[in-house]
Amino acid sequence: MENKLFELAAKRRSIRRYTDEHINEAVLDEIMKVALTAPCSFGHRPVEFVIVRDKNKIKEIASCKNLGGSQIIGADVVVVVMVNLERGEFWIEDGAIASSYILLAAEQYDVGACWVHIRNRNGKRKSSDEEIRQLLGIPDGYAVLNLIALGGKGERKSGYTEDDLDFSKIHYE
Ligand SMILES: Cc1cc2nc3c(=O)[nH]c(=O)nc-3n(C[C@H](O)[C@H](O)[C@H](O)COP(=O)(O)O)c2cc1C
Repeated sequence: MENKLFELAAKRRSIRRYTDEHINEAVLDEIMKVALTAPCSFGHRPVEFVIVRDKNKIKEIASCKNLGGSQIIGADVVVVVMVNLERGEFWIEDGAIASSYILLAAEQYDVGACWVHIRNRNGKRKSSDEEIRQLLGIPDGYAVLNLIALGGKGERKSGYTEDDLDFSKIHYE
């Protein structure tokens, strides 16, 4: 049976190296449009995004995560995924679903993407979340869950096939 979503999801892999290709604004808009359709708790739409393209700012964000932050250097775009805690009893879930949508949408345009975790991670002096919020002027009451790095694919990874799937994870009754 045709399953276009499976084809897309199976092709998606975490891409951590990027070319210097510029992601067209129109493509970025299409990707972010998908993120805005993500389901969210109580329909509150608590997830917001900061799109960062400035290379120096990306370097500064990288330095807010002392382990593994540097991988975003070289990305053309970094999407900071943050959630309004006032409206976000299920903020982690809400942010995670929107992030997953971005990863899938990026694959549709053959844009490389990787989730870079921020929650419970540390920067130089404070938590990564606090350092990023301070750097970008994100108000109190928001929490940064993660970043999504986007860029031209600087590495090629084979997608998943049905043989890679562990169907024993699915239980019936
Ligand atoms: C909650 C979560 C946190 C992650 N954190 C990071 C991260 O900080 N750095 C990174 O390079 N990849 C991170 N990843 C990507 C995973 O390492 C990756 O999805 C996993 O290894 C499977 O590989 P694939 O995405 O190519 O299928 C994260 C993924 C999730 C869902």
